[in-house]
Amino acid sequence: MNINITQTTNSKLADIDFNDIPFGKYTSDHMFMMDYDNGAWGDFRIVPYQALMLDPQSKALQYCQCIFEGMKASIGMDGVPKLLRPDLNIERFNLSAERMCMPLIPEDMFMQALKSITLCEINWIPKEVGSALYLRPTMVATESSLGVTPSSTYTFYIYTGPAQPYFNKPVKLITEQTFIRAVPGGTGEAKTGGNYGASLKAGQLAKQNGYDQIIWLESPAFKKIQEAGMMNLFFVIGDTVITPKLSGAVLKGTTRTYFIDILKEKNINVEVRDIYIDEILEAYKNNNLKEAFGAGTAAVVSHIAEITHGDIQMVLPADTEKISTMLYNEITGLRAGTIQDKRNWLVSVKENILTLS
Ligand SMILES: Cc1ncc(COP(=O)(O)O)c(C=O)c1O
Repeated sequence: MNINITQTTNSKLADIDFNDIPFGKYTSDHMFMMDYDNGAWGDFRIVPYQALMLDPQSKALQYCQCIFEGMKASIGMDGVPKLLRPDLNIERFNLSAERMCMPLIPEDMFMQALKSITLCEINWIPKEVGSALYLRPTMVATESSLGVTPSSTYTFYIYTGPAQPYFNKPVKLITEQTFIRAVPGGTGEAKTGGNYGASLKAGQLAKQNGYDQIIWLESPAFKKIQEAGMMNLFFVIGDTVITPKLSGAVLKGTTRTYFIDILKEKNINVEVRDIYIDEILEAYKNNNLKEAFGAGTAAVVSHIAEITHGDIQMVLPADTEKISTMLYNEITGLRAGTIQDKRNWLVSVKENILTLS
């Protein structure tokens, strides 16, 4: 795979204050791109960050045939950029592609694309512990035709942007009992734009009422817990950690997978199963709900301070966040290089796959 590189003549790097980089605010100088036509990927290139040329009638715009991923590259104490378990993101991207009738990307091609853009943007990776370069691999359907059929052509790109540690304050959540994000058989397990568009209304109403996020419950009973906003959920009941099993409507979070693996390794009881809101209410009533937290790439952990369900409010004291804090420290330490990578989860980006001219 030969990557053609066009370097920017107008770098934005000097304009960025690395002490003030709110998540998602800045994009870096370059992006990786490739196109799919006649059944094959080609025209591999790194170009200056730029707008796409999309026909107004393209299937990405008209029928939301588009998917994406979210992951981070960090730079450890050895100065080498690292990706954390990128195979999980590649696998999920290809599952999303399969669900949305889009072409798969061979793992080695995807990995080389990730590595090449990370190396190209090495100066954009913030060095502070907990900071990272956020990578957003995306695929859009480019064919122009009104028929509701899969596109025959696609563009794949990876753009990036620096991100500071995302210390959000403990969040207030409310269960949603009118709107739904996804149902089994729908597209909830795919990372496709429509799921996020569909979630906006409930999120907006929750914010207007003073909540940070909603907890999605499975319709029509609105009892079974799915996930919250852009994160998977974990509850600690007694000395057991529980997290919803994937039902076809829940995104298979990469952070969720790291956490389940770490908990098992540390011999902490972890159960992946159906969880109903009544069980959480009961545990809270019995003083048995010790912790609740969200897991996702942006914040790693979001401590949950409050959950409202109907007219019941569960308030969780901040001093009980032991397991979530341990999990946060494991992932952040691993990325920073202060915790040894015994599990071989980190992929170093040091091959000389780029020669910038
Ligand atoms: C709907 C949804 N659930 C869960 C997650 C957490 O997934 P990950 O840990 O891979 O970031 C995300 C974040 O991408 C998300 O968008």
